[in-house]
Amino acid sequence: MRVGLLGLGTVGSGTAKILLDPAHRHPLVGQIELARVGVRSLDKPRSVAIEGDRLTTDLESIVSDPTIDVVVEVMGGLEPARSLILKAIAHGKHVVTANKAVIARYGDEIFTAANEAGVYVMLEAAVAGGIPVIQPLKQALGVNRIRAVTGIINGTTNYILTRMQREGGDFEAILADAQRLGYAEADPSADVDGLDAADKIAILASLAFGGRIKLSEVYSEGIRHVTAADIAYADRLGFVIKLLAIARRDSDFDETSDQALDQLQLRVHPTLVPVSHPLASVNDVYNAILIEGDPIGQVMFFGPGAGEGPTASAVVSDLLNLAANLRAGTTPKATNPLLACSHQHYCK
Ligand code: NAP
Ligand code: HSE
Repeated sequence: MRVGLLGLGTVGSGTAKILLDPAHRHPLVGQIELARVGVRSLDKPRSVAIEGDRLTTDLESIVSDPTIDVVVEVMGGLEPARSLILKAIAHGKHVVTANKAVIARYGDEIFTAANEAGVYVMLEAAVAGGIPVIQPLKQALGVNRIRAVTGIINGTTNYILTRMQREGGDFEAILADAQRLGYAEADPSADVDGLDAADKIAILASLAFGGRIKLSEVYSEGIRHVTAADIAYADRLGFVIKLLAIARRDSDFDETSDQALDQLQLRVHPTLVPVSHPLASVNDVYNAILIEGDPIGQVMFFGPGAGEGPTASAVVSDLLNLAANLRAGTTPKATNPLLACSHQHYCK
């Protein structure tokens, strides 16, 4: 399976390192060839060496290259990422992406195109970095009627809030550390203002509630106005402040009623979490997603929510699953998640 990688930043470098050194991993990883890599600048110092003419600034030539089977989009941003994904699909290539901003806005267009082309689009890395949550929601929890998804799903803001809690430190200096560690988005206001978490909860809610969630339906508020004093007062009262992303079904949907929108809460905001709550002890860059459903009750996913290694783990595991699916001859249609729709309001 020949891979064209769009982007060689934090996530792209981690992905390339695994593909270029597959020893001691699943044997199928050794059959995934990193064929070409697209970047903005050829002169930038890299933490991984890409030999010969495999490194290029001509990303269009990668998505149209007939020898490439899979395009891995880890460049970020809306454009040209969206157009390149669509062109890759039009050329019959499978796509693996970590780009929640594109999926949250254009997931429907992308999955419709993928369905028509008969190719896979996989996105485990797009939500909560290294934590497997997309695949479990679609498959292992598939029988459940989900009531709520509540998560700490932005590593940068959780890292900032945790350090402010521990050391009362300076917001800007801690944010600069999160950027240096590769946690933050290229424009970190997406993290700090809650927009990245809004993208992710829209994707999770689409999967959990079986339909398209529009981003405009997600209330979002970030952590810019949270002060060290707020955190100290919360602590005295037995709470921690966490940026929670919440998708909650308040009552059963009435399939024929236009009132359905009022019954689904979608919100991202700083929240007072009692210290005894399982999400209260999720610190640093760690993320956690608490899913409540019937008949499962409560299940929580926990792990590193950002950074090179954890996110590359999700990307390469998607590639591995893709390779296994192709080997087994499984049809892609069954795995295109955002097209499944169980409630008419969100399927219009
Ligand atoms: P990054 O470090 O900023 O890397 C972006 C890469 O894409 C760079 O190699 C850059 O090239 C290339 N690129 C960007 N725009 C380009 C353009 N117009 N033309 C050609 N190349 C372009 O980003 P990242 O942190 O790896 O994130 C990538 C994606 O993964 C984003 O969608 C992000 O939301 C998602 N994600 C990130 C994390 C994380 O922990 N960082 C976790 C989960 C998901 P140059 O190197 O030449 O500048
Ligand atoms: N900037 C994101 C975060 C990367 O901090 O969670 C992982 O999606």
